[in-house]
Amino acid sequence: MLKPIFEVTGLTVQYGGVKAVDGVTLSLQPGQIRGLIGPNGAGKSTLIDGISGRRRPAAGSVSLDGTDITRFGVLERRRLGLSRSFQRTSIFAGMGVREQVELAAVKVGATDPERDCHDSLAELGLLDVAELTAGELGYGEQRRLDLALALVGSPSVLLLDEPMAGLTVPESLELAQHLKKLANERGVSVLLVEHDMEVVFGVSDRITVLELGKVLAEGVPSEVRANPRVREAYLGSAA
Ligand SMILES: Nc1ncnc2c1ncn2[C@@H]1O[C@H](COP(=O)(O)OP(=O)(O)O)[C@@H](O)[C@H]1O
Ligand SMILES: [Mg+2]
Repeated sequence: MLKPIFEVTGLTVQYGGVKAVDGVTLSLQPGQIRGLIGPNGAGKSTLIDGISGRRRPAAGSVSLDGTDITRFGVLERRRLGLSRSFQRTSIFAGMGVREQVELAAVKVGATDPERDCHDSLAELGLLDVAELTAGELGYGEQRRLDLALALVGSPSVLLLDEPMAGLTVPESLELAQHLKKLANERGVSVLLVEHDMEVVFGVSDRITVLELGKVLAEGVPSEVRANPRVREAYLGSAA
């Protein structure tokens, strides 16, 4: 088995005294897509916050390519290759598409921001709309812009918190194809929070199920789908 590029070990994140994430362990191989699912309030977004450096964990560790980054700041992690998108969009409506992607590339320390911006826009099929402001884009294009922003600086790991929220089914499947391509062709590893089961089971190599902050199940999609505890706690009869 390959060595993981990214490892989260026993991560605990608290709000006050409440453990929203409780001893979570997971890893990503290069080019692997891991789905992160679980009911509302399970701790998915909090886990992403703890991993990305937005929220300081109470316990546990995060390592990227062998470096312990648990105490590193958000931008420092980003420059080392750990990138995230937000559950709510992080784009600037009044700013040009190209302008903000290039600015993001500068911010993360890309050696050639202009080229990096171009590649990122091309990857997401946004070159045709690069001179518009973000506010002029359709909703599906805005979600792809989110991903383009997360992609500058050639990150090795992408943390995506519901990137398909609000998209139509065809738009979601298109975005899923972009993720597959990033993973397969660029070797980017993806941790994908997504509530659409069809999308997440279709695109993921492995899946982690969270319940009340803890890992309820982990495995390849078919294993997770067949897990009685998962069916009972989460998937219900719809699975
Ligand atoms: N800023 C916060 N302050 C206090 N509690 C929070 C905060 N954000 C989330 N929580 C709580 O932490 C738990 C996990 O939330 P969250 O990570 O948003 O779950 P998910 O993303 O899986 O829906 C929930 O019980 C939620 O109410
Ligand atoms: Mg959430």
